[in-house]
Amino acid sequence: MEIIIKENGQVASEAAARIVVRLVKEKPNAVIGLATGSTPLMLYREMIRLHKEEGLDFSQVTTFNLDEYIGLPPEHEQSYRRFMNENLFKHINIKMENTHVPDGMAEDVPASCAAYEQAIIDAGGIDLQVLGIGSDGHVGFNEPTSSFASRTRIKTLTRETVADNARFFDDDESMVPHHCVTMGIGTIMDARMNIMLAFGERKADAIADTVEGPIASIMPASILQYHPAAKLFIDEAAASKLKLASYYRWVYDGKPKWQKDA
Ligand code: GLP
Repeated sequence: MEIIIKENGQVASEAAARIVVRLVKEKPNAVIGLATGSTPLMLYREMIRLHKEEGLDFSQVTTFNLDEYIGLPPEHEQSYRRFMNENLFKHINIKMENTHVPDGMAEDVPASCAAYEQAIIDAGGIDLQVLGIGSDGHVGFNEPTSSFASRTRIKTLTRETVADNARFFDDDESMVPHHCVTMGIGTIMDARMNIMLAFGERKADAIADTVEGPIASIMPASILQYHPAAKLFIDEAAASKLKLASYYRWVYDGKPKWQKDA
């Protein structure tokens, strides 16, 4: 895992965006996995800027989102489909039919999860997966003790995640759905590259455990240690509990520019 520590979330997000730029320029029909939550918003703003100001072309790109709440229709203010439309898709030239978010309203959830996995395979697999991390170490909505072999399926959120996400539901925990559909950890690990973003003190413990703790399902993100191409873009606050932070800085500072954006 490569650890990239930047002075703040904006600079870290711009560095992450350079990975997206490189991919989309090299492979215009790239398949990109996307995340929701507050963390990737700066990355999405930078992708929008790159499209508007520098002509970055998403017309052939396909996307697959990590997860969706069960029971929220796409037009619901807090559905992840709505989040993606508002915060990214409608501001770039991606074709809406090439964007995929798990269906939170499916009548047959297992069948729709299997179809989602198949759609990823049919698209050629995910080239680059963007990840956030929950304060309990979840990726997508793969809560602690999720199987590392899991595929897209229904999950129940932990109370910690319900409480964390209440901020998006007028601070009313009773409004937060308890179930979701999420890509599995196995699905995420199949992506050719994973980039995780994490900002703020609230993520420092999870980041330290992810990078320097044992690989264990109690800390789902720790499986990234086993991924051949995983990069972590974090700010100083999220990096504050890393034992080897100065080593990670030294490694990154010593890299040639072409390798930093690769
Ligand atoms: C949500 C999402 C995750 C996201 C995480 C962190 O529950 N399902 O994909 O990474 O929580 O959210 P935030 O970035 O707002 O801290």
